[in-house]
Amino acid sequence: MRIYDIIAKKRDGYELTDEEIGFFVRELTNEKIMDYQATALLMAIYIRGMSDREMITLTKEMAVSGDTLDLSELGITADKHSTGGVGDKTTLVVAPLIASLGINVAKMSGRGLGHTGGTVDKLESIRGFKVSLSPDDFISQVKKIGIAVVGQTGRLAPADKIIYSLRDATATVGSVPLIASSIMSKKLAAGSKTIVLDVKYGSGAFMKTTEDAEALSKKMVDIGKAAGRRMAAVISDMDTPLGTNIGNALEVKEAVAVLRGEGSEDLKEVSLTLAANIVALSLGDDIAAARKKVEAALESGKAYEKFKEFITTQGGDISQIENTDKLPKAKTVYQLLSPESGYISKMQAEDIGSASVILGAGRLTKEDTIDYSAGIILNKKTGDKVQRGDVLAELHTNNSGKIKDAEKLFLSALSFSSEKPERNPLIYKTIL
Ligand code: URA
Repeated sequence: MRIYDIIAKKRDGYELTDEEIGFFVRELTNEKIMDYQATALLMAIYIRGMSDREMITLTKEMAVSGDTLDLSELGITADKHSTGGVGDKTTLVVAPLIASLGINVAKMSGRGLGHTGGTVDKLESIRGFKVSLSPDDFISQVKKIGIAVVGQTGRLAPADKIIYSLRDATATVGSVPLIASSIMSKKLAAGSKTIVLDVKYGSGAFMKTTEDAEALSKKMVDIGKAAGRRMAAVISDMDTPLGTNIGNALEVKEAVAVLRGEGSEDLKEVSLTLAANIVALSLGDDIAAARKKVEAALESGKAYEKFKEFITTQGGDISQIENTDKLPKAKTVYQLLSPESGYISKMQAEDIGSASVILGAGRLTKEDTIDYSAGIILNKKTGDKVQRGDVLAELHTNNSGKIKDAEKLFLSALSFSSEKPERNPLIYKTIL
């Protein structure tokens, strides 16, 4: 078999066989295929697309290109994945919530890059929290307390790592079969039986429209089912940032507030919807009964107690959770004032995420370091009425020289109107 012939076949619009796809993934992982050949094939896939069979085979081959976790000894296991957004701290709420109901969470999470944050960075803002555990410690922690969250290792789906970096450099990221196989290969390798995806749509998301988010969701759900997993995809709004806090320690603070029964309604609603779907799929309840269970676990404080147990077990300083004022704090807090009166009709979530990166909350390259205390607290969001001079947001940073640039970008992300705008639905649809 020759990679040359596989490229030519896809270039001409033909379907690849399972053997050809398997050959490509294995040879690429073993560094036997040149980058220029791999990118030629990826561009051909980008332009010609893939049948469902090709996409499922590609995903399965990528999933077994490195380590795969066998979680069967843990019984009921569930994972959630968000396609990425601004202010998205739902994992911090959902993971302890479902664990408090007896569903095991053995989760690998990513770091933030660009305008989107990552769960591992958020957890690392808690003093002492260990984001890497040995495989044995990882499993035994889940057996003991029902939850462990660690950073994703490079040995999980290494083919995806290679393919993603080539796509990133060759304008081939935005292809549904390539995105679906990339995300699902890592989820399949990570071993959980139930997988619930939070597929974001809007200005801060990969998928800008509900149509594109739905198409991606359906493909990912099909892939997971074909691999024997229980699947759901919740399509949720990322036109406006989720909740009020953006930035690592600030997001931990907001997640803790929701776990304590306070905090933002939109964050609470997305978290409850995701958790209810996980419970329904994992425990066999209908969705209404599952929703009641997760609401009760949140309201009774059971989920918060599980979160505290999780943080303590993984080495985190629990006093920073019990009193979130002890989390890292920025030296400068700048009050950003509204230049106009009226309703906020739009907030470009991506630009607001980028403004928080300017303040130090995120990284532009994988090598950048982050400032856990930096970020933005939104006092006003889309649909709110404001007067000129009202505080729209607080900018938190240890680098006050960056405030003007962040402010400029933040303000350019906002539109104002005299009429109260329609908000996008927070939860657009759930695909089963
Ligand atoms: N996230 C991934 O892991 N892969 C993609 O291709 C896009 C988003």
